[in-house]
Amino acid sequence: MKNPILIGFMGAGKTTVGTTLAKVLGQPFYDLDDAIEKHLGQSIPSYFNEKGESAFRQVEKELLARHLSTDNVLATGGGTACQVVNQALLRADKRPVVWLQASDKTTLENLSAEDWQKRPILADKTAEDLSKLKASREVFYRKTADIIVNVDQKTPETIAEEIIDRL
Ligand code: S3P
Repeated sequence: MKNPILIGFMGAGKTTVGTTLAKVLGQPFYDLDDAIEKHLGQSIPSYFNEKGESAFRQVEKELLARHLSTDNVLATGGGTACQVVNQALLRADKRPVVWLQASDKTTLENLSAEDWQKRPILADKTAEDLSKLKASREVFYRKTADIIVNVDQKTPETIAEEIIDRL
C-alpha cells in the first residue's frame, strides 16, 4: 500500500490527521508547511510579508517535488493542490490523494484567532471571504483527489481509520 497525500482547505485538519494516520500506519509523517518553514528559516507569514505569495508558491512547489519521491504520509498546505503545476506533480506521484473535506462551520471552528493570524491568505479576511475562497478552491481539490473524506464532527482517529479503510 502506498502512503497517502492529504489535501484540503486550511483548518480541515491535514496536519493533525496526517500525524495520527502516520502513527497508525507506522510510517513517517511529512508536513509540507513545516518543511517550508525549516527550509526558509522563517515563518510562512513573515516570508509572505517579505517576498509575497508567488515567491512562496515557488518554494512550495520545489519542496513538494523534492518530497514526492519519498514515501511518507504527506500533508500539503491549503493552497498546494490549487496550483496547476502542483496538481500535475501530485497526479504523477501515483499515491492516493485524499481530500479532507470540511464544511464552512467546521473550518471556522477549527481555526482559532491565532491560527487565522498564522495564515497570510486569511489576513484581513472575513468569514464570508473565507467561505468564497473555500468554494473557489473545492474544484481543484475534487479534481486532484482519489478519495474524499468528510471530516465534520469526526475525531482524527476516526478520520484516519476511514482513510485506511478506503486506501
Ligand atoms: C495556505 C495554507 C497554509 C500555508 C500557507 C498558504 C493556503 O497551510 O501553506 O499559509 O494558501 O491555503 P494550511 O492549510 O496548513 O493552513
